[in-house]
Amino acid sequence: MESISIAIDGPAAAGKSTVAKQIAKKLGIIYVDTGAMYRALTYQALLDNINLEDEKAVMEMLKKIDIRLAQHEEGQHVFINEKDVTEAIRYPDVTASVSVIAKHPLVRKEMVTAQQELAQDHSVVMDGRDIGSHVLPNADVKIFLVASVTERAKRRFEENKQKGIPADLHTLEKEIEKRDELDSTREASPLVQADDAIELDTTSLSIEEVTEKILGICQPFIKKPGVQ
Ligand code: CDP
Ligand code: CDP
Repeated sequence: MESISIAIDGPAAAGKSTVAKQIAKKLGIIYVDTGAMYRALTYQALLDNINLEDEKAVMEMLKKIDIRLAQHEEGQHVFINEKDVTEAIRYPDVTASVSVIAKHPLVRKEMVTAQQELAQDHSVVMDGRDIGSHVLPNADVKIFLVASVTERAKRRFEENKQKGIPADLHTLEKEIEKRDELDSTREASPLVQADDAIELDTTSLSIEEVTEKILGICQPFIKKPGVQ
């Protein structure tokens, strides 16, 4: 059976996961949020008081835990050893530390293998930082979403407000800039636009407009017989 693979990369709060979820729903395919895997690892490391800079210690912890992504009606849930951490991994302490764990080459190797397995034999839309450049280099469609840092901070601010997470716009902007810098400058599969990715600036676009544009780009692949 023919399948479609869609890679969506870009900096923090560009709208990757929101749009990827919409696309998955419209096409009836699986959505994989790879950031959630790095976040889950970070959550556990903070809980266990592990030095995040110590790759060996992080790897030892990684071997003892099972991170599982489950597709539920309302979206992806994340489990660590059967504990649902979907909400907990979004909290500011995890967000502030996740790029430190994500820079370790051995950690990335494990994560990338797991992500490639999730995409095997399935149609998938996967979002992250290195999906088009590294995880799914042969993806049918590669999108690189960008937006101004001011707009991205505003989006995160609104999102946090709705969730009741305390936030300050200036702090969010600084946090986003710092994380983008760390993600773009690390040696192991950094945040980078793949040569064959299509860049979409979403600064002044709604979620619906971005979704429609990407679905339009996917159209030739959707028409393949048997795409599911
Ligand atoms: O949603 P947001 O943009 O805040 O972040 P995320 O997608 O949940 O990713 C959290 C962090 O995980 C990123 O800042 C990266 O450090 C790391 N990450 C990565 O290195 N590679 C990926 N494929 C996905 C996330
Ligand atoms: O996954 P990523 O970090 O790239 O961003 P996201 O979590 O999907 O989006 C961050 C916030 O921006 C969410 O609250 C979205 O609803 C919002 N958003 C928006 O207002 N306009 C867009 N075109 C895309 C996302």
